[in-house]
Parts: sequence; C-alpha cells; structure tokens
Amino acid sequence: MTGASRGIGRGIAFELASTRHSVAIIHYDANNDAAEETVEQCTALYGKNKSLHAAFFKANIGSAEDRQRLVKWATETFGEIDGLVNNAGIAPRQRDDIIYAKEEIFDEVLKVNLYGPYFLTQLVAQKWLEEENRNTSSPSGKNKTRRIVFITSISAEQVSLNRGEYCISKAGLAMAAQLYSARLAPDNIYVYEIRPGIIATDMTSGVKDRYDKLIAEGLVPQKRWGQPADIAHMVQAIMDGKLDFSTGSVIYADGGLHISRL
Ligand code: NAI
Repeated sequence: MTGASRGIGRGIAFELASTRHSVAIIHYDANNDAAEETVEQCTALYGKNKSLHAAFFKANIGSAEDRQRLVKWATETFGEIDGLVNNAGIAPRQRDDIIYAKEEIFDEVLKVNLYGPYFLTQLVAQKWLEEENRNTSSPSGKNKTRRIVFITSISAEQVSLNRGEYCISKAGLAMAAQLYSARLAPDNIYVYEIRPGIIATDMTSGVKDRYDKLIAEGLVPQKRWGQPADIAHMVQAIMDGKLDFSTGSVIYADGGLHISRL
C-alpha cells in the first residue's frame, strides 16, 4: 500500500493487519520513523501469527525508477502481491487562484497523484497478467482474484479554485480507476475507487479551524470529520472479497458531502 506511514494509509494498514493481511508500507517521508512505527504496530497486531508480516520501503511513486524498485522489493519481501492500494497523494505545497497558479506546482501534484498510481497500477497489472499466463498449465494457479483500490477525493467532482491541480489529479485518477476496472475485470482483477471527503489527517491539520466551522454549519450532512478508520473499513471489505461483484464502483467516504443540496 502506498502512503502508509501516516494518515489514511496508516489507518488502512492497521485494519488490514488486524484482519490477517501482510502489508507492504510504501512511504516517502524525510525520515523513516513514521513508517517504522506503522510496521511495529502492525507486527503487534499479528501477535503470534508468524505467517504474517509488515515491512516498509521508501520510494517516490512519482518516479518511474522508484516504482520499479518498489515492486521488485515487495515481490522479494512478500513472495507475491495480492492487492494494491493506491493511497499516497499530496496537496499542492502552494495554493493559488487557478488564474495565477504555477505550472511547476501542477507538475509536482500530477506526478505524485496521477502518474504515480496510474503507472504503478500498470506495472503491477502487467506482472499479474504475466503470472496468469505462466500458470495456464496449472488449474490451481489460474484466475486468482486480485484487487486494486484507488483513493481519490471529493475533489474529483467538487471544485476548489485555489488548488485546481489537486482537483484535476483526482478527477484523472477517478478515470484511471474506470479504465483499469474495465480492462482487468476479465482477468479477475477488480478495481474500486474510494472517494473520501474531509478526513482528519496531517494533510488537513493546517485547515482544521476552517473545516471545523464549515462542518458545524452543516457542510457535511453527517456533521463530523471523517477518520482514517472510515476508509480503512471499506478497503478491508474490498480486500476480503465482500465487494467482488462491484468492480468499477465509486464508494464515498464523506458523510454525505457529495449530495447536491438546494
Ligand atoms: P498524509 O499527508 O497524511 O499522508 C500521505 C502519505 O503519502 C504519507 O505516508 C507519505 O509518506 C506518502 N507520500 C507522499 N508523497 C509520496 C510520494 N511521492 N511517494 C510515495 N509516498 C508518498 O495524507 P492523507 O490525508 O492520509 O491522504 C491520503 C490520500 O487520501 C491522499 O491521496 C489524499 O489525496 C487522499 N485524500 C485525503 C483527504 C483528507 O481530507 N485528508 C480527503 C480526500 C482524499
């Protein structure tokens, strides 16, 4: 899973660890402490079950070379990859009115939020399809079910005029989820988009007061912040096969924020 050292990704890692999944924690923090802590807490959740394990790897998903390195590492460390959660993402480091926003910031955001998960998915899917082709002679190895999740954002459909690049990256990612779900369904690879609203993480800590007020005023019908666990429960249900007839679905984790109201 990408972006699993903190925030939503860390919440997903804990949920998957507590429901008996080994997890590969991909992060790109300046130091490894947060990722290491996530691994330690997952390991504690495994208890005495030695068949499960967690490990972390630092890689920039915006870099083609790093994507190759991380897939190689995950395969060597875990034997095989069963599922992929494309969670890592960044907010623009500078927010500007779209009329003045800089191309350089657009590039940075698109590289991580769109190119990264799009081409990482391509790499993992190629690997899975090649494995399936090799396994045609062994009935047990053929048609294994695998699952991919894209964490997009309510910004895929709602505009924020001072972070246009983020909105465009998430709208593009929503289309990537549709494309991959259509392409991979015949190969038993199911693809889902989870579209979170306003979630309490480091990413939103800088705008906490503003959103506290908006939420209290009713911006979110359920009148609360989302928590990483809200998304983690959905990912766990997907990875445990509870939504296996729903490939291509968009699942909101936003307390009703997306509902158009008069
Ligand atoms: P966060 O900032 O707390 O954590 C981001 C994670 O991504 C960290 O583990 C970081 O190491 C990793 N990361 C950042 N850049 C990376 C790169 N280039 N390569 C590999 N890993 C990288 O973010 P948060 O809030 O947990 O968000 C997770 C995802 O959910 C993002 O895609 C974000 O856009 C999306 N999201 C967040 C919402 C929120 O309100 N927090 C709302 C809607 C969507």
